[in-house]
Amino acid sequence: MAQKVFFQCPECGYKSPRWMGRCPGCNSWNTFVEGQVVNKGDNIHNIAGSNNRVAPVPITGVLPLADDRFSVGLAEMDRVLGGGIVPGSLVLLGGDPGIGKSTILLQVAGNMTNKRSEPGKVLYVSGEESLQQIRLRADRLGLLNDSIYLVAETEIAIIENYIMQLKPNLVIIDSIQTTFHNDLSSTPGSVSQVRESTLRLMRIAKGLSISVIIIGHVTKEGMLAGPRVLEHMVDVVLYMEGQRHQSLRLLRVVKNRFGSTNEVGVFEMQGAGLVEVSNPSSLFMGNFRNDNLPGTVVVPVMEGTRPLLVEIQALVCATCFGIPRRMTTGVDTNRVALIMAVLEKRLGMQMGKYDAYVNVVGGIKINETAVDLGIAISLASSFKNCPVEHSLAVMGEIGLTGEIRAIPGVERRIDEARRLGFKRCMVPYANTCKASFTGIYVDGVRSTIDAIDRALKV
Ligand code: TYD
Ligand code: MG
Repeated sequence: MAQKVFFQCPECGYKSPRWMGRCPGCNSWNTFVEGQVVNKGDNIHNIAGSNNRVAPVPITGVLPLADDRFSVGLAEMDRVLGGGIVPGSLVLLGGDPGIGKSTILLQVAGNMTNKRSEPGKVLYVSGEESLQQIRLRADRLGLLNDSIYLVAETEIAIIENYIMQLKPNLVIIDSIQTTFHNDLSSTPGSVSQVRESTLRLMRIAKGLSISVIIIGHVTKEGMLAGPRVLEHMVDVVLYMEGQRHQSLRLLRVVKNRFGSTNEVGVFEMQGAGLVEVSNPSSLFMGNFRNDNLPGTVVVPVMEGTRPLLVEIQALVCATCFGIPRRMTTGVDTNRVALIMAVLEKRLGMQMGKYDAYVNVVGGIKINETAVDLGIAISLASSFKNCPVEHSLAVMGEIGLTGEIRAIPGVERRIDEARRLGFKRCMVPYANTCKASFTGIYVDGVRSTIDAIDRALKV
């Protein structure tokens, strides 16, 4: 009998019996990929446990889960996971190639302990590297121990067998794009293969209470390769970010069924693998300002629930060409254009004949608007060639009329600035009404003009 095929959009999961150029679900073009209908006998939608049907019970009658999370041996990652890894959970770790996914999971394999600090048995399934390569890396990182089991295998049915024989506490799949099921004719990495493998892993994770961490590659556009539905299926989605030529790595949680999604773990890639940075401000502020030069200012930003001090630098210089250049790293170029427009219109700073470069030191990306005031002050400082007062940290969102708008988390940001020795903090006036601060002078500002006047040493 001919096998039935269907076409599916990996972006939104829309299914269709025929191929389409444009997905009616999410309107993206040319995304449809072929998949195959799985035989009835091999019903993958039956998660273990769902066969033993139980009648509805009152919520108070459900026995609570024992809190027996495992520590992964890295405090930063434990925090991101919400206090360790829950037995029977399925975690997806995404990230660009070469960012350090295999490294961090090998470190997890080597350091994982349970509540009584006993090492857990870990099965590391690699479809990408040879066992010798992994051993070499583990050796270099000082992680060789008997509780790590390695296997180079890509067929999901065989992986399942190994898991059932070994009954480890944690299984690491490196990567989901290399695993495949023999019954499906599509190539490994295709939507149906990735989905099938994940479903099978989910079944085994829930059924045997084994935690599974899956590595997923990220496409050029920054999406997890494979279907978007993968994110719906797993319990936790983590992304590892960073720039390849810089050592900073951020572990972000995008989805977490067992904790908050506000946490971010900070690591540094060193010769001995990924090292946790428990005091990230020191990483960015390490060599801040030995001499007082114009165009730089410090901004406390929030990474998850943690404040982090970063240095914003701007360079404004006369343009050699007709059209001035606007270049940014770490902040949104459009936001910089907007702030420059406000500076031109409200402060009369004519920058039409100047190139402007804005950079966040240390390779971190900032997505919040609290950094607006920092950008404006650094641009003005460079434009007027006038340094910013040495012990000042600034924060605030700028509106189109040049007003400074309130931002969240002001107390925590001020605390962090004080901890690192800053004497003065410039904050939106609206934020200063409620709280009182000691040990640091908090300067509430209402407009960009005021803020720039007070920040620059004239
Ligand atoms: P890897 O974990 O293989 O990346 P991924 O699995 O995400 O593709 O990391 C590879 C990079 O990490 C490689 O370019 C070298 C760097 N690295 C270090 O700098 N120090 C180390 O101790 C290790 C193991 C890797
Ligand atoms: Mg790898």
